[in-house]
Amino acid sequence: IIDLTEIDSTNNYAMRLLNEGMAEHGVIIRADFQTAGRGQLGNVWQAEESKNLLMSVILDTSDFALEDQFYLNAATCVSLADCLMSQYNLRDVSIKWPNDIYAGNQKIAGILIENNIRGHQWTNAILGIGLNVNQLHFQDLTRATSLQLQAGKVLKINQVLKAVVKSLNAHMKLLDSDPAQVLRTYNHLLMGAGGTISFYRKHQLEEGLLLGANEQGLLEVQQGEKIRRFKHKEIDLVVA
Ligand code: BTN
Repeated sequence: IIDLTEIDSTNNYAMRLLNEGMAEHGVIIRADFQTAGRGQLGNVWQAEESKNLLMSVILDTSDFALEDQFYLNAATCVSLADCLMSQYNLRDVSIKWPNDIYAGNQKIAGILIENNIRGHQWTNAILGIGLNVNQLHFQDLTRATSLQLQAGKVLKINQVLKAVVKSLNAHMKLLDSDPAQVLRTYNHLLMGAGGTISFYRKHQLEEGLLLGANEQGLLEVQQGEKIRRFKHKEIDLVVA
């Protein structure tokens, strides 16, 4: 574990280590504060200093097939969700497709996975995890929450890190032995699973029965007789 007080982004730091040939499978970078924390879709990831878990895990993915990228995403989501439920007794934890972790209808954690691919070889992945731990106010983000807000007590970041790493280890093993199980659990934890979901597509509000994510990570939604498959960015799910 590389512990940093301040960095641009733990994912950037991890990528620099990889590019310099200084990274090993399992190295974790954790920071108290990020000056340029990054989220999905080019968004910024804001987090108050020393209040949250900001980490990146470097993985050697040379044993994975490039087509299996979504499985790693699924395993990471399930690790976080499971950790929150089993270690902190949070109820109503779900995964908002493709990789946001929610407690009730508020986001508690986000994941940004970045990959190194050479030709057809997937060499490394960087699992970037931002988990809100002791932050109590989120400015303009009304749909955000933290572990302290949910569990009702102050938590030690280092202990949360340990719990997350333990869960990641367990689910990476499961990914190795039974990837289908990881995908089933992911779908079981999916927000709106088995029910009707609303989403925006090309600025139009639509509805459909959520069937789950497939092996490629496409979201399968049934509308009448038709099953449609959506890519990330193609639709914007409405959180109830
Ligand atoms: C999202 O939900 O948009 C993903 C957020 C990911 C944030 C984490 S914090 C640690 C790591 N470093 C970054 O710059 N981003 C990820």
